Amino acid sequence: MFSIDLIQQIKEWKRGSTLPICLGCDVGGSGLRVRLSDFHDSAKYVDLGHAKAQKTAELLKVLEDLQQKILQVEPTTVCLGAAIAVAGPIKNNTVILTNWKGPAEERTLSITQLPKGLFPKDRSYFLNDLEAGAYGVIAAYEQSILEENFVQLFTDRAPTGPILAKGRTAVLAMGSGLGAALVTRTPLLKNPLVLPTELGHLQIAPNMATHKYFQDEQELIQHISDHYYGGKLDPEYEDICSGRGLQLAFQFYHKKLTGEVLPLEQIDAGDVAKKAIAGEKDAYNALRAHYIFYLRAAKAIATSLSCESCVLSLDNQVKNHPFVMKIAKELEEEFYEFIRPDWMTSVRVYSQKSILNFNILGTDYMAHA
Ligand code: BGC
Repeated sequence: MFSIDLIQQIKEWKRGSTLPICLGCDVGGSGLRVRLSDFHDSAKYVDLGHAKAQKTAELLKVLEDLQQKILQVEPTTVCLGAAIAVAGPIKNNTVILTNWKGPAEERTLSITQLPKGLFPKDRSYFLNDLEAGAYGVIAAYEQSILEENFVQLFTDRAPTGPILAKGRTAVLAMGSGLGAALVTRTPLLKNPLVLPTELGHLQIAPNMATHKYFQDEQELIQHISDHYYGGKLDPEYEDICSGRGLQLAFQFYHKKLTGEVLPLEQIDAGDVAKKAIAGEKDAYNALRAHYIFYLRAAKAIATSLSCESCVLSLDNQVKNHPFVMKIAKELEEEFYEFIRPDWMTSVRVYSQKSILNFNILGTDYMAHA
């Protein structure tokens, strides 16, 4: 639940007889984050931090409690715009969240279930999380705070240029799932167009027999397929490029090194990343594979969507920044090794280097739209 002390700050935004606000909400694997902002000035905001929720019922309880607390702080508060970001494809204003566990009915959410006082009818947006992230990139661009949060990778292979391309930009995030959205700027439209995608679920393109990593990758992909698909089907990129994917990759490399099969519940993805950064071999190989496949997915996405720029965002990317820089040469090779090399010459890749929550920025941006 969110603290009422933080909510008190909204009182300062009262104008006349009412207190008009906007609400941005980002629902992640472990719970939700909320930003309240002044309807008249989005520069005035309060971030309420994180509240736990891993089921629809828990999420609704947190939001209903928030609605109550806001009215308790200031009974004249009126929410004039809201947006909520969720993982999974949204159809008919309904989503089955992909980053929560359990039966589908416990993680299904419709916009109509949200408390009306916080999510006003016809002024609320239900967004895919990467769609929100892409709006966050646009918001950061408009506020001139985009460039400072990224470093351009592979500058010996690609020209320098703006993160938000004049044409198309792919915004990617590898967290509890693998998300991707496209931003298109075109003279045909006044504003950039954001297209949410489900490209993290593309099936992996394996390397062929004479590739130097063929054997190692073949075994890893088989290990993942054995776990999810009875060894029959090619896994999706998210099966390795995600928290659960890193656990599985570590299980594979640890077994290869020691012969021991660790139960997945005993493997913490965050710990694996820390060990990898410290140079422990099994963890290093797991995190390396996690990023190699990420760049392979990025290559497929950037080429098939004709992107000039490819943005690797999220706090994990920031935490793993030293590791990414350490293996940058290998990642470069992976990214630019493509069957149509001439398509790759001008694709720019950016890696987030400092913490900025683009999903919250994007939901707030849309709440004010
Ligand atoms: C979902 C996407 C989401 C991504 C990142 C995937 O599992 O299907 O909609 O953008 O995870 O959270």
